[in-house]
Amino acid sequence: MIVRNEQQLKSIKEAAQVAATVLDRMVQLVAPGMNTYDLDQAGKRFIEELGAESACYKYQVGSRVYPAFTCLSVNDEVVHGIGSLDRVLQSGDIISVDVCTRYNGYIGDNCRTVAVGEISPEKQKLLDVTEEAMYEGIRAARKGFRVGKISSAVQKRVEKEGYGVIRDFVGHGVGRSLHEEPQVPNFGKPGQGPKLKEGTVLCIEPMVNMGSYKIKMSDDGWTALSSDQSPSAHFEHTVLIGANGPKILSVPEGKEAPVLV
Ligand code: MF3
Ligand code: CO
Repeated sequence: MIVRNEQQLKSIKEAAQVAATVLDRMVQLVAPGMNTYDLDQAGKRFIEELGAESACYKYQVGSRVYPAFTCLSVNDEVVHGIGSLDRVLQSGDIISVDVCTRYNGYIGDNCRTVAVGEISPEKQKLLDVTEEAMYEGIRAARKGFRVGKISSAVQKRVEKEGYGVIRDFVGHGVGRSLHEEPQVPNFGKPGQGPKLKEGTVLCIEPMVNMGSYKIKMSDDGWTALSSDQSPSAHFEHTVLIGANGPKILSVPEGKEAPVLV
């Protein structure tokens, strides 16, 4: 787990602010009739306008190279969906918009799942619970606590509703690279994992299926889908383990961070 100095934290905060601004602008474009290729291209433009670059584009896992600039995952797509001209958003859909940017050598990463037009109360509840689970995790992100404190807080909130929290993807440390130590699972026991240190930055990001937590991979090799085709939501913030508690860094410049009570 890397502890950052003031200068490094300032840079990570700037990168996270950029990622948050891009995310804000992108979700404003979400509407019935929009296709996910155009939404991704808009994300590319916003990232460039802010002087940053996408940390997803050309991201490599083994021999696979990620082809899009943001990750756009609709309905039963869990994470890492690839924008497509054929994927036209319809009222009643939900879409996760995941933006990770590199700015001055540092990474910021954040995600939100939003409604397209009018959605069912069941889907709205999935979004609300997943966001609440993220905040439960963030509140547990304190120096001296173990990573498992975050994991168990997230899992509890999710499973109280009978939803499934994804095992195959986890949150992560962030800084110079997108995925750093420690891993931050969204399930587990409070006593598990390393102790959190002041000056560490984490991405806390529950992924939640309305049904089973199991996933399957799509033929494109990237998109994860819920195994039972149930809708899936994903919320993520970049969070500093501060001297006086957690501090959300992925907030657009000039905006107030969400209040953690
Ligand atoms: N925010 C995503 C993550 O932390 C970004 C993944 S980049 C991709 O996993 F190339 F894998 F899509
Ligand atoms: Co992430």
